[in-house]
Amino acid sequence: MTEQAAARQESTARAARAVVLLSGAGQTLAALLQARENRDLDLDIVGVISDRADAGGLAIAKSAGIPAVVLSRSSYKTKMAFEQALIREVADFSAHWVVLAGFMRVLSAKVCQAWVHRAVNLHPSLLPKYPGLDTHARALAAGDSHAGASVHYLTEELDGGPLIGQVATPILPGDTAASLAARIKPLEQALLIDCLQRLCRQFSAQHH
Ligand code: GAR
Repeated sequence: MTEQAAARQESTARAARAVVLLSGAGQTLAALLQARENRDLDLDIVGVISDRADAGGLAIAKSAGIPAVVLSRSSYKTKMAFEQALIREVADFSAHWVVLAGFMRVLSAKVCQAWVHRAVNLHPSLLPKYPGLDTHARALAAGDSHAGASVHYLTEELDGGPLIGQVATPILPGDTAASLAARIKPLEQALLIDCLQRLCRQFSAQHH
């Protein structure tokens, strides 16, 4: 084994492990994988779970060689059965963290309690403003001076858990929800990478 390969294997053995939950295009997942590749993030993404079979994030996981699982809500009779399956799938990956990167389902207290201080959600607003959907349109309608994104721990309060970090950008004349979303996307991805890297540093200090 070359010295470089050995160093990489050692760093992989030491890195924290995360499962990413998503429902959509997976641009956030792609940004996390790129950060890992660039060595800006000491976090191994060991699995991806999507609640939608048509999520673009599944193809991104596949091309990165990451095991991806589809858990459709419609395959389960009750929300509780769906959530039990989700908890089981996450546990099977033996991950330290669960990263909600565009996962568009409201999870019940049972799930949040299973992942206390282990699940991190990216939300496209300056929380506590605008939990839920259509965040950029709501910021525009309210005449806000700034919009942005937040990273917070998942709790049973919708988009209401303790904040880990935020990023803001001024709302410019002529902005639309789409233009704001496009401007905020790279900022929120950088924010998430930064927040996760902070958690990884704490993890590594605790485990060595
Ligand atoms: C991201 O913009 C994220 O902030 C948002 O979904 C998008 C996912 O994009 N999250 C939420 O709205 C959570 N309530 P992606 O699928 O391209 O990563």
